[in-house]
Amino acid sequence: PLVSMNEFLPKAKENKFAVGQFNLNNLEFAKAITQAAMAEKSPFIFGVSEGALKYMGIEYTVAIAEAAAKESGLPIALHLDHGSSFEVAMKCIRAGFSSVMFDGSHYGLEENIELTKQVVKAARAMGVSVEGELGTIGGVEDDLSVADEDATLAKPEEAIRYYEETGVDCLAIAVGTAHGMYKGEPKIHYDIIQKVADAIPVPIVLHGGSGVPDEAIRQSIQAGVGKINVNTENQVACTKAVREALASNADIIDPRKYLNPAIKAMQAVVQEKIRLFGSSNQA
Ligand code: G3H
Ligand code: ZN
Repeated sequence: PLVSMNEFLPKAKENKFAVGQFNLNNLEFAKAITQAAMAEKSPFIFGVSEGALKYMGIEYTVAIAEAAAKESGLPIALHLDHGSSFEVAMKCIRAGFSSVMFDGSHYGLEENIELTKQVVKAARAMGVSVEGELGTIGGVEDDLSVADEDATLAKPEEAIRYYEETGVDCLAIAVGTAHGMYKGEPKIHYDIIQKVADAIPVPIVLHGGSGVPDEAIRQSIQAGVGKINVNTENQVACTKAVREALASNADIIDPRKYLNPAIKAMQAVVQEKIRLFGSSNQA
């Protein structure tokens, strides 16, 4: 069965590794991610954005994730990514999600705390884990778009207070990464990660994990990151593989002929990330 993130996040924080959240966008993503994690014997998180939920349908989403858990025997959390309201979070929990993110980062601190508290209270009663967010992470993901000038780093004192009042199971804070492709290299504020991670018992979440140099990932984990989100790198690998397969053979009509290469390409991406995050053999 699907598990809450508390099945593996405490261990990740204690032993300084990170569990990957790989976004689930369709069946091919599900297969690629699960096969990679099986090869590495790693726990992982299926992140599902509201856009992906609309695309797949909530019943298919849960069924696919449950099939992955059953086939692999791995601890897999099915997690709502950037949930925008209490209602969406509850809808996902009712449908079978084992974890939710409430992203109240566009609200003021007080309102964000109040709304997050409500989600935590309801989710906890169901054994479902909750991720909160503080500060605004730049870039574009689905319907979520934050201009660079509006991306604001999290303030450590606020993040610590947010944790203490809400009791979330992990905390996403804006520390310099962004969603989507980077133009240059992201400047990660390790001091912010360290300060917050040292003061709270739960791990920090790094969003916008695609395109972050390996060394920066390692340093982030050392500072206190225990969950890392990756989506764009898989999308790029998927689309590139499909383009190449179609370009190399104009006679293809069977979708499996270009989707199998996409699965293989994404599997390679995920396996590399799992190794980098240090979660191999932690299942
Ligand atoms: O919430 C999902 C992520 O933060 C993914 O970011 O697409 O830049 O890897 P990414
Ligand atoms: Zn994100």
